[in-house]
Amino acid sequence: MATHHDSNPRNSAHERLDDWEDDLLRRYPPSNGPASHPAVKAGPAPEPAGFRDYQKEARASVREFYRLNHARQTYDFVQAKRADYLRLSRRRMGIWEAMEFLNTLVDDSDPDTDLPQLEHLLQTAESIRADGHPRWFILTGLIHDLGKVLCLFGEPQWAVVGDTFPVGCAFSQKIVFSEFFAENPDCHAPRFQSACGIYAPGCGLDGVTMSWGHDEYLYHVVRDYLPDEALAMIRYHSFYPAHREGEYTHLMNARDHELLGWVRAFNPYDLYTKRDVRPDVSRLRPYYEDLIGEFFPATLAW
Ligand SMILES: [Fe+2]
Ligand SMILES: [Fe+2]
Repeated sequence: MATHHDSNPRNSAHERLDDWEDDLLRRYPPSNGPASHPAVKAGPAPEPAGFRDYQKEARASVREFYRLNHARQTYDFVQAKRADYLRLSRRRMGIWEAMEFLNTLVDDSDPDTDLPQLEHLLQTAESIRADGHPRWFILTGLIHDLGKVLCLFGEPQWAVVGDTFPVGCAFSQKIVFSEFFAENPDCHAPRFQSACGIYAPGCGLDGVTMSWGHDEYLYHVVRDYLPDEALAMIRYHSFYPAHREGEYTHLMNARDHELLGWVRAFNPYDLYTKRDVRPDVSRLRPYYEDLIGEFFPATLAW
């Protein structure tokens, strides 16, 4: 649980969440972004210039974040988190209420950034809307990070954010800082360390257990209310080893390949829409409350 070295877990959690997201931009700068249309075929992204130096130059806090994540996301850890959180018995909240709840995860030390989580969600959604995408796509942008409320339920950063990957099979060497998996006990369990591990080849991602974090959690909260494309964007938006590095195709079926096209279409809106211009929350709220009401009931189980 959130027993980290800091006396203010909310504050420190937020700083560390931003560490990971800022570092993603360093790893995948905009010039190396994928084409933003889902019709563009999947495949590994071109290796950015200097990619080999990326890990060497990473900040100490980012390295430590990945070390903890890779060492502790074991198959058993994930199953325990699923058994706990997927009962969805923490609280009932509407979507806008969850956005405001997530927004209490603020960095108290910086009064100029008092709406960071809500702003990221609105900026993502507004950019999707500006490009003329369907309403469900805009709504997906609005909600995609609400699973980060796990932080407010006491989960440490390494169990909320970070690149996600399957557990129960060999860890791809293309996962960032893959050397840290040497500290993961599953690395020494033969049944988990063949390419497919406990899974059948081509079984489909729906039958594969992913590392625990905000993506998988939110997927389960909203799965009854959105189309498959939206659910894939939510569930796999941090699955950089697949949607950016082209890994784990041996576990995928044809439908996964289709849906990953949508995950790739979503990714630039997540990574490259942080702007200095702050969204006008009160002006935008009626539009988004209407959009939320089109798809979701007044409250959901979290
Ligand atoms: Fe996210
Ligand atoms: Fe995001």
